[in-house]
Amino acid sequence: MDIRFTDCAVRFGERVALHPLNLALSEKRVGIIGLNGSGKTTFARLINGLVKPSSGRVTVNGLNTVEDDRAVLSEAGFIFQNPQHQLIMPIVAEDIAFGLKNRGLPREEIDRRMQGALSRFGIEHLARRRVHELSGGETQLVAMASVVVTDPKILILDEPTNQLDLRNRRRVAETIEGLPEDTVVITHDLALVENVDRLLLFHEGRLAADGDPHETIRRYHEIAGC
Ligand SMILES: Nc1ncnc2c1ncn2[C@@H]1O[C@H](COP(=O)(O)OP(=O)(O)OP(=O)(O)O)[C@@H](O)[C@H]1O
Ligand SMILES: [Mg+2]
Repeated sequence: MDIRFTDCAVRFGERVALHPLNLALSEKRVGIIGLNGSGKTTFARLINGLVKPSSGRVTVNGLNTVEDDRAVLSEAGFIFQNPQHQLIMPIVAEDIAFGLKNRGLPREEIDRRMQGALSRFGIEHLARRRVHELSGGETQLVAMASVVVTDPKILILDEPTNQLDLRNRRRVAETIEGLPEDTVVITHDLALVENVDRLLLFHEGRLAADGDPHETIRRYHEIAGC
């Protein structure tokens, strides 16, 4: 991945969610940690243009998130902190096919790619289920399949193991580790990021640590005071 933040800041009215930031990310697996409200989701949403910089700019694989916003959405897929909010269609298979239909792909290719995504996440048995009846872990896997099926080069996962039991947490963690796509994982689940290539720590809208996971996690404990 090639993600660049240049003097990028985000304000919501009076509140500064992200202070001016200069940063380039090129690693395959990047993690983001920090206290509640520290700016992690804001930072992650900047990457695929869901949040626009109040000043400065962000580029993703050479595309500007403001000028090339549609192309950026295809480049970087985002899996929401509450994935039930991103499932649009009533049936799992329809939801996974939705993004492909929007692109006007032929029926056979949609079916082939949908089957591929279902089998990749081990959820073939969920294809005909109603999305609102799925468990938390099932919802998480379906949300990942629905994004991955559109072939983004970068996947941004915002608290992917949130609300999951121990078994589903393990399953989703292993699935993420095995993803061939470049990933940016935001999490409070430190086990999920202890082996990433680069770990960022946000604190009060600023980058407070950046680098080796072990060192960043140590700093996080210091900041959290526990
Ligand atoms: N749309 C918005 N309007 C106003 N303020 C916002 C908006 N989105 C985020 N904020 C504020 O910006 C700050 C950073 O929020 P953000 O969601 O990035 O935090 P976070 O690190 O992801 O927190 P959490 O761990 O709780 O998910 C918070 O103070 C939040 O209230
Ligand atoms: Mg968040």
